Amino acid sequence: MGRIPHKRHTVFRKENGDLYYEELFGTIGFDGMSSLLYHEQRPTQVKRIVKSEDVSPKIAEEFNMKALSLNGFGLKPESDFLESRKIVMTNNDLHICLAAPQHSTTEYFYKNTDSDEVIFVHKGTGTLKTHLGNIPFEYGDYLLIPRGTIYQMHFDQEDNRLFIVESKHPVYTPKRYRNWFGQHLEHSPFCERDMFPPSELETHNEVGEFLLKVKKQEQMHHYVYAAHPFSVVGYDGYNYPYKFSIHDFEPITGRVHMPPPIHQTFETKAFVICSFVPRMYDYHPEAIPAPYHHSNIDSDEVLYYVDGDFMSRNHIEKGQITLHPAGIPHGPHPGAAERSIGKKSTEELAVMVDTFAPLKITETGAKLVEGDYYTSWLEH
Ligand SMILES: [Fe+2]
Repeated sequence: MGRIPHKRHTVFRKENGDLYYEELFGTIGFDGMSSLLYHEQRPTQVKRIVKSEDVSPKIAEEFNMKALSLNGFGLKPESDFLESRKIVMTNNDLHICLAAPQHSTTEYFYKNTDSDEVIFVHKGTGTLKTHLGNIPFEYGDYLLIPRGTIYQMHFDQEDNRLFIVESKHPVYTPKRYRNWFGQHLEHSPFCERDMFPPSELETHNEVGEFLLKVKKQEQMHHYVYAAHPFSVVGYDGYNYPYKFSIHDFEPITGRVHMPPPIHQTFETKAFVICSFVPRMYDYHPEAIPAPYHHSNIDSDEVLYYVDGDFMSRNHIEKGQITLHPAGIPHGPHPGAAERSIGKKSTEELAVMVDTFAPLKITETGAKLVEGDYYTSWLEH
């Protein structure tokens, strides 16, 4: 994207004869994905560090063993993007956050240095502006933002709802859907054509004072830089943000019930993200389309309900989150299995996050908990 020299690490000059500033934007030491960037301004011009604040989540329930239901849309909208982001569940591998930001980020830039961020857009349209280019977004988009990406969220309206996963581990598409080289295979529910990198590079050459909020080790460090953070004139490589729409996920269906891994969209060492999308139901004449009970002995299961009628659950609202903790079985609500027999298709739309380590409930999360969901399977 943009302009780059013919050879890496060679002379690349501006019109006035000065050199552009080269930066390797890489991961996992020099072993992971990287991009090679060319800046108008040095990316290192720190003027001062104003303050550092603790933004670590406050835990309400350390050892949760209850199936929980949270009213996600119960979260109050707030003006600022970062202020509006609330961690509702967490462990050492990830934060699960909700956000209802009303206004675009204009006063500062943001960078998460120890987590990849996956932002699922439930409501709202706008543009993700990054130092590697801009990505327009809309309802249903997953925005994949690699750690270290400097960004701002620009919204077209005030009514926005985001479901965000901050991952301490790099987020990839499942390995089993890729060939030895990394290309998506024919049986993958999506392919490269469904992935959208930045479509426009906005280069700023301004100098002055630019606030960059840098998140590291649950602290937010306020850096003032002397040059605009979006000063890249060009780059190439594999480390950049992209978007993938949940509406482009092609469901895998079968004659009898297919297990949750068919919905898998992203993977990390410590959790997976799955997309439940509108699809035809199982077509065996005696098939029960509702899921069977399952004991996910070693993974917590978080479902974020986006749209449609969720067939295995009663009383589900948009923006609702259920958590089924590891160690105890869960399954369809009373009546759901019977109700599903003979049904041809579903319009359900949901995002699932299955974590291999147990999740803690934060104070914000606990405030959104509704009712005694863990007793909702009782027949009488
Ligand atoms: Fe489940």
